[in-house]
Amino acid sequence: MSERTFKAVDALIVDKLNLSDPALEGALEASAGGGLPKIEVSPPYGRLLELLVRISSARRVLEIGTLGGYSAIWMARGLPADGRLVTIEHVPRHAEVAGDNLKRAGLAGRVEIRVGIALDVLAALEAEAGEPFDMVFIDADKSNNSAYIEWAIRLGRQGTVIVVDNIVLGGAVLDAKSVDAGIKGRQEALDILGSHPRLLATAIQTVGFKDHDGFALALVT
Ligand code: SAH
Ligand code: DHB
Ligand code: MG
Repeated sequence: MSERTFKAVDALIVDKLNLSDPALEGALEASAGGGLPKIEVSPPYGRLLELLVRISSARRVLEIGTLGGYSAIWMARGLPADGRLVTIEHVPRHAEVAGDNLKRAGLAGRVEIRVGIALDVLAALEAEAGEPFDMVFIDADKSNNSAYIEWAIRLGRQGTVIVVDNIVLGGAVLDAKSVDAGIKGRQEALDILGSHPRLLATAIQTVGFKDHDGFALALVT
């Protein structure tokens, strides 16, 4: 089956399941217009994130890697009125576009964008000793994936849901000899997901608007 088929099927799914609306489209347009890279999650994946927020009855969600706030819109929509999404982004321009997109989507009150290097912001969140996060979406620099998974456990609780994006990268994860920090980060993430005594995890490959990739889903036990 061809890449064209994968994209056409994603378009069919978006159409049949109503996975597009003016707020989401506006966010994509503003992000592209603002020169941000087109690497946000696909609409079906965004709905999956919303469903995971709802299925886990999450009230506090953490995202590492905001970009233009597209995945944040999906997750924030799954939150109850008193729920909160904290999303971390180190590029001020990305955070600015995300803030506008979330405001236009009517979600600014539910989302807090923290501008900074993720590892620093995560340490700051721990120091603030807020309530644990019920769900964590890891989607930033892949070289730090295993550190982010450790942080998700530390800032979470038993029952916290963890999603790790882009774990396959078109099969590049297979290259055991790779010296690329991003690929090594993905491999280390799979190692920790499979060996950590507190994690029950799987990993699913995906095709569609985005090329062959995948995500890991884990539960903190
Ligand atoms: N979750 C977004 C896409 C995120 S793309 C969506 O699906 O809509 C990855 C983002 O992580 C980029 O905006 C990048 O600037 C940010 N990022 C990369 N490394 C980071 C780091 N160390 N700390 C904080 N943000 C980082
Ligand atoms: C890239 C990053 C992502 O989070 C993604 O989903 C796809 C691509 C990238 O950095 O190229
Ligand atoms: Mg991603």
